[in-house]
Amino acid sequence: MTKNFDVCVIGAGPGGYVAAIRSAQLGLKTVIIERENLGGVCLNVGCIPSKAMITAAHFLHRLEHQASDMGIEISGKPKLNMKKLVSWKQSVCDKMSGGVAQLLKGNQVEIISGEAEFKDAKTLSVVGKNVNDLIQAKHFIIATGSRPIEIPGFKIDEKEVLSSTGALALDEVPKKLVVIGGGYIGLEISSYLQKLGSEVTILEAMPALLQGVADAECVQVVARKLKKSGVQVHLGAKAKSYKASGKTYEVTYELNGKSEKIKADKILLTVGRKPNSDQMGLRKIGLKIDDKGFIETNAQRKTNLSHIFAIGDIAGQPMLAHKASHEGVMVAEIISGQNRAYDAKTVPAVIFVDPEIASAGWMEEEAKAHGHKELKIGKFPFGANGRAVSMMESEGFVKMIADAETHVLLGVHIVGPEASNLISEAALAIEMGARLEDLALTIHPHPTLGETMMEAAEATLGHAIHVIQRPLSGARKSPAGSSASASRVH
Ligand code: NAI
Repeated sequence: MTKNFDVCVIGAGPGGYVAAIRSAQLGLKTVIIERENLGGVCLNVGCIPSKAMITAAHFLHRLEHQASDMGIEISGKPKLNMKKLVSWKQSVCDKMSGGVAQLLKGNQVEIISGEAEFKDAKTLSVVGKNVNDLIQAKHFIIATGSRPIEIPGFKIDEKEVLSSTGALALDEVPKKLVVIGGGYIGLEISSYLQKLGSEVTILEAMPALLQGVADAECVQVVARKLKKSGVQVHLGAKAKSYKASGKTYEVTYELNGKSEKIKADKILLTVGRKPNSDQMGLRKIGLKIDDKGFIETNAQRKTNLSHIFAIGDIAGQPMLAHKASHEGVMVAEIISGQNRAYDAKTVPAVIFVDPEIASAGWMEEEAKAHGHKELKIGKFPFGANGRAVSMMESEGFVKMIADAETHVLLGVHIVGPEASNLISEAALAIEMGARLEDLALTIHPHPTLGETMMEAAEATLGHAIHVIQRPLSGARKSPAGSSASASRVH
């Protein structure tokens, strides 16, 4: 059957389903096509299930290691029922995916389950279990995402070599886990599996974890905690191959020019993701794709074919769900005739490790590379924040980077409790071109973790209340027009 629409969205992840809902809200006749589950990788096998596992593992860890200090006595050791945990995690995903279905239907978006392929630039075929349709649309939005990269010697089969999908589905905790790649995914999964009882070893090819991805001082806090908890980290270690010996596997890696071996029950491969641009006949219809596999787009996410847009992981870095959703709303509005373009100053990023790392804006070197030669950099520790101490989660700090002359905030890097929630204030501040004084002079409620944002701004200006800053007098000058001397009573 041939069906006609104003907008056809391909892929129902956080880019695609958001684009479809916004298109429908704007009165456009919209269809969305998905070959797997509504919500995409993020909701079904990525962001959401991993957060469920991280929450449970952190809860167990606190029961085991902190409850008794708080006077909570548990007779015996808390016991993990991994099968039940995995089924609870699945119920979270199902609930969220069901919610997406309801939202799409409630907005009168037609949902088609099947595999889409371009026949020509204006026609898509969709083949599924009970579907064999041709779709024609005035506009197409490609939101088909990315998939894990493999390296020579390691083929993901989700039995011996797992991707994040396989790791999230494990219903037994592996005794010995070797993780290849100390990036976002490797570290998030290592953190929670270690807490659930795995002996984890991370092989990272670069000289540091999260190299160039997160502020090095923030990473140090996490690296120290990983080490303390017993996770082995080998830096500069390149995984080469593995072989089975009985029910276990022996992974060979290269370290300092020497070949080393390590045993594992499971191997987790997390060395990055690549865009799904080799599928769906995208090259056949003449779409321009760059040498990294991303579909080339302009600031409106329009491709070289003016009726086709691309958003999310397939349209370029950063491969983050919230960037995809932002682009989804934008593209729907552009199709409906609004004048919009992608001009985000910052895409905040969160790594859900322990403690969490979150950032918005530039790191020090990036700020310098963008022409800010003189910087003001300050930090405020969670150890000096009453709420963090009362939560028994006082590791880490908030670090701020601002232009030394104008005090305009350029970057915020947080490692600590609820960094993921705290970072939104920083993103707003950076988008609004806020100065340190704007944060320092905004009254933050007490006692909250949010006060660390205000105090980090004060610290960067040289006068935080809850840390002693030197020099004690004379050396602190406010910039012209600022009133950095505001006082605050607790
Ligand atoms: P990644 O790019 O974050 O990290 C991959 C790591 O693997 C790098 O540090 C790299 O040096 C290392 N590596 C590469 N080859 C290696 C080898 N042969 N031996 C040892 N190490 C090797 O990639 P990852 O963790 O797979 O994540 C992919 C993307 O997914 C991220 O870039 C991120 O955008 C997204 N993501 C976001 C999350 C969030 O927002 N919280 C969570 C998970 C993923």
